[in-house]
Amino acid sequence: MKKQRIVIAGGGSTYTPGIVAMLADNMERFPIAEIKLYDDLAERQEPIGAACEILLREKNPDIQFSYTTDPEEAFTNVDFCMAHIRVGLYAMREQDEKIPLKHGVVGQETCGPGGIAYGMRSIPGVLEILDYLETYSPDAWMLNYSNPAAIVAEATRRLRPDSKIINICDMPIAIESIFADILGLPSRKDLVVRYYGLNHFGWWTSVTDQAGNNLMPRLQEFVAKDGYAFETEDFQHKHPSWQATFKKAKDVYALDPKTLPNTYLKYYLYPDYEVAHSNPNFTRANEVMATREKDVFNLSREIIAKGTAVGTSFHAGAHATFIIDLACAIAFNTKERMLLIVPNNGAIENFGKDAMVEVPCLVGNQGPEPLTMGTIPTFQKGLMEQQVAVEKLVVEAYIEGSYQKLWQAMTLSKTVPSASVAQAILDDLIEANREFWPELS
Ligand code: NAD
Ligand code: G6P
Ligand code: MN
Repeated sequence: MKKQRIVIAGGGSTYTPGIVAMLADNMERFPIAEIKLYDDLAERQEPIGAACEILLREKNPDIQFSYTTDPEEAFTNVDFCMAHIRVGLYAMREQDEKIPLKHGVVGQETCGPGGIAYGMRSIPGVLEILDYLETYSPDAWMLNYSNPAAIVAEATRRLRPDSKIINICDMPIAIESIFADILGLPSRKDLVVRYYGLNHFGWWTSVTDQAGNNLMPRLQEFVAKDGYAFETEDFQHKHPSWQATFKKAKDVYALDPKTLPNTYLKYYLYPDYEVAHSNPNFTRANEVMATREKDVFNLSREIIAKGTAVGTSFHAGAHATFIIDLACAIAFNTKERMLLIVPNNGAIENFGKDAMVEVPCLVGNQGPEPLTMGTIPTFQKGLMEQQVAVEKLVVEAYIEGSYQKLWQAMTLSKTVPSASVAQAILDDLIEANREFWPELS
């Protein structure tokens, strides 16, 4: 097996140390020659980079390691770029959540007006990284999970149609781990699923074991009572706000008891409930800044001060394993079945060819081969058509610098009650994003 060279973009991310640790622990199935971290902000890259250096020296000194803010150094001679950037950092996530809430609308990282605002910031950031990669390592693959993945995927489909980028999300993987827990199975990998939708907007239609036994009835019985609220080991999803999300899946499920829903649908189907249960002065961004962000940076500084990472550990969880699965599938042609965000092209028969959808794919060294999911019902089709139009309008607004199209996108979001509310939110978001968005007219 050829040893792989990796650059992690968003090297100062809260997820980076967990991924580095996970990579070092998976050398048997995914051997690595080199890991480089790249961030455009030295003050974030420095502590995470220095801590990862100590960690890797102790875990696996054979892996060549460096961290940098220089794109040429970072992107030269690599096989993969794993990208998880957050343009505007948590400070801007806080704005994305609080501005809509001020107008009585869902304030969320990737859904509704907040997700649209984040999309307008992410598009140029992700394109920049993709271009660095194509310049310095033209054969490399970019495995992107920078959010909002749906909008980013549509933007790269439109603007870099021939590039080797694959967009992926960890939410279905986290939910499938809960399925395995509910069923008393050792791993999500014991399950074979059929699923269709958009990113953060989809449904499972079939869950079986490897022998083909139908496991849906047992899952449905559980979800009808408790949603996805099963005792979880996943550190991220232990937070009370995530637990509330998992419980709410019960009500989302009730709308179509034939399928099992993605948790994110709650923001579109129960927006009034979400707003009523949000604190406009303390949102998820505040929670994450006070916990994950603080903890990861404190632990990094502690490791640097002590000069050792022995006795400490960074959380990795579902988020890290799937990205290694994906890299393995491409590097070693494993043909693993994975849910990815890909151009529809008939995978969902009665849905637009040019929509970016989330469906199971077989992944090998040529990239993903989507599986056909057949015809979808009117309820899901209606919801998805509205949402995909929002995502397409955002990308068109970005490309054309169009205020009109961004207003249309906000208005069309199922989370927003009217064009006037959409406009009021848009105008506040424009003000908050002056530093990041293209000029709109
Ligand atoms: P974070 O703010 O801790 O880290 C993001 C890093 O990206 C920061 O260090 C920042 O300086 C850097 N960055 C921003 N713009 C950049 C650019 N243009 N070039 C290089 N680096 C840049 O954020 P986080 O909470 O660790 O999340 C990182 C990303 O991963 C977010 O987009 C988040 O939404 C995403 N994420 C996605 C999934 C998924 O399912 N797809 C799951 C978890 C997290
Ligand atoms: C899930 C989603 C990601 C999202 C994350 C937010 O993992 O799939 O796309 O970024 O949740 O989690 P947080 O803990 O930052 O609110
Ligand atoms: Mn996601």
